[in-house]
Amino acid sequence: MIRLQQVNKWYGAYHALVDVDEHIAKGEVVVICGPSGSGKSTLIRTLNRLEPIQGGHILIDGQDIHAKAMDLNRFRSRIGFVFQQFNLFPHLSVLDNCTLAPIRLRGLKPPQARREAMALLDRVGLAHKADALPANLSGGQQQRVAIARALAMQPPLMLFDEPTSALDPEMVGEVLLVMRDLARDGMTMVVVTHEMGFARDVADRVLFMDQGRVLERAAPEAFFQTPSHPRTQKFLADIRTPFSSAV
Ligand SMILES: Nc1ncnc2c1ncn2[C@@H]1O[C@H](COP(=O)(O)OP(=O)(O)OP(=O)(O)O)[C@@H](O)[C@H]1O
Ligand SMILES: [Mg+2]
Repeated sequence: MIRLQQVNKWYGAYHALVDVDEHIAKGEVVVICGPSGSGKSTLIRTLNRLEPIQGGHILIDGQDIHAKAMDLNRFRSRIGFVFQQFNLFPHLSVLDNCTLAPIRLRGLKPPQARREAMALLDRVGLAHKADALPANLSGGQQQRVAIARALAMQPPLMLFDEPTSALDPEMVGEVLLVMRDLARDGMTMVVVTHEMGFARDVADRVLFMDQGRVLERAAPEAFFQTPSHPRTQKFLADIRTPFSSAV
């Protein structure tokens, strides 16, 4: 479904993505991990063209998404993207947050959009909050609304960039459970996260990035038990004993 061919990206003189070659199959859940600054956000942002690339190709369903002829708005509206910050429209109710794009971009009639949005809110456990404003929800609830809002565009692909990093610890689980259910329903997902429990339980494959390169890719079991690259081994050791470098 997604094919990255020799993808290279620079920020000015800084080589942020180096020869990235990956295939992601339909229905696959890929977790990207790696140290801060390794290029995880950059990579995921190239997948919906929030970032341009200077070398290589990215094909989604056979279409070169960085080709000049792409209808960018139409393309982007089809890819679900959930960020660290929830980015809900603050002046709109939860329900209206979830119906705005389907009405404007999918051309749904409001009653139909509301029916679909209510079903999605139910799926993320928030149907009872449909009339609330985002400011009156917890962080975990807001992030679940953000996921429902993305799903309302019926995306074939969902991208997540550290969706739980801004949450208080007690709210991380509820968001990861929604993501796990989405994965079990067959959604194709690319997830940047430090939640290694999620990676172990839900991912089909884990990619490890360092300095703009994908250094390792493996099924979770092999990734965690027998990482082959020394940098992966060090990364995993560091996150298992987070204070080791400070002591
Ligand atoms: N807009 C930008 N202009 C210049 N350099 C950038 C820009 N965005 C990112 N970079 C640099 O590119 C590198 C990769 O950044 P990126 O945000 O992709 O890392 P990351 O792996 O997502 O890190 P983190 O775990 O901290 O989110 C970093 O060195 C960063 O400073
Ligand atoms: Mg990042």
